[in-house]
Parts: sequence; structure tokens; C-alpha cells
Amino acid sequence: MEGAGRHLARVTTRSARATAALGELLGRALRPGDVVALLGELGAGKTQLVRGICRGARVPEREVASPTFAIVASYRGRLPVHHADLYRVADEDELHATGFFDLLGGDGAVLVEWADRVPGALPGERLEVRLEHDPRRPEVRHLAIDGMGERHAALARLLGAPARRRPGAGRRAGRRTARR
Ligand SMILES: Nc1ncnc2c1ncn2[C@@H]1O[C@H](COP(=O)(O)OP(=O)(O)OP(=O)(O)O)[C@@H](O)[C@H]1O
Ligand SMILES: [Mg+2]
Repeated sequence: MEGAGRHLARVTTRSARATAALGELLGRALRPGDVVALLGELGAGKTQLVRGICRGARVPEREVASPTFAIVASYRGRLPVHHADLYRVADEDELHATGFFDLLGGDGAVLVEWADRVPGALPGERLEVRLEHDPRRPEVRHLAIDGMGERHAALARLLGAPARRRPGAGRRAGRRTARR
């Protein structure tokens, strides 16, 4: 599980805002070619995380919608951010028709909600974020963040690091106080 090419981080967030703040951290680090799978049941917080990622990537807030009906929406931020939602996709053929596969390895980062609906849609090297409701506390989510391949493992390490130990955190750059 561990090593340069794989890292699993576990993070608990205690509010929707904290989930978005974690996303923002990821959005600031995103590079073209990065692939992020977002997994978890209805209302788990996938879109909430995407909103934070987009903010971190400097996508104008109003652009971020739920692409459930369009399947893929592309935003222009610091880099192109492609946001897909595979909830209603029947199979790989249907996904081909949307142009989704052309986005992988392209000019931007690709974020995919319900990535598990179409097995094999994503490359092996990806960041997989699974969000789960806490059984007792409605505002709490448990995130398992699995980075596969060196690049995505580094992202998982970044997200798993306690806020106070992240590069730039602490008193000198006290703006990042993502409480979670
Ligand atoms: N810790 C938390 N993290 C994220 N969302 C939270 C948290 N606590 C409460 N929420 C609420 O849960 C809901 C998550 O909705 P969101 O649309 O992000 O889910 P989703 O996983 O994208 O669902 P869907 O599969 O329907 O698209 C929001 O209403 C949000 O305010
Ligand atoms: Mg959603």
C-alpha cells in the first residue's frame, strides 16, 4: 500500500466547509493530467469537494454546476478543469460518445463523480477519494484518499498531512486554517 507509488490517507471532516477546504488544497496543487475519482453514496459530499477543488484551481464559482445531465462540464481556471458525473451513464460506449476519454491525459485535470459506475473508465494512475457518512453525526464525513502512481500518491500525502504541518501552514501564513 505504501511506497513512492501509492499512498492511502484518511481524513475526517466535520462540516461541508471543511470538506470544501480540503478540496481547495487539492485544487491549488492540481496539474494537467491529474485524475480524481470521487466515490460515495448520494449526498456523501462529492460535489462539495469538487466546489472546493475548483476554488483552489481558481475556477469562477458560478461556473461550477452539477454536470449530471451534461455528463461532462469543462471549466476554465488556473488550468482547465473537466468535471464529469457518471451517475446516469449506462456503459462505456455511452461514455465514449460524450468525448470523456479525450479529456484524459489532455490539457487539464479531470474530476469524476460516480467513477465506479463505469468500471475501467479511468486510468490506473489516479487519486481516488471515497467519502462516507458518519453513522451518528450528520455533519461528519470520513474520507479515504488513495493515490495511485507517484504523482497521485504525492497528492494523497499532501491531503493527509495535518493542516499545521502542511507547507505554508502555521503562523507565518496563517490564512490556511482549514479546521477539520
Ligand atoms: N462534512 C461534510 N462534507 C460534505 N458535505 C457535507 C458535510 N456535512 C454535511 N454535508 C452536506 O451534505 C451534502 C453533500 O452534497 P453533495 O451534493 O456534495 O453530495 P454528492 O456526493 O455530490 O451527491 P450526489 O451523488 O447526489 O451528487 C450537502 O448538502 C452538504 O452541505
Ligand atoms: Mg454530486
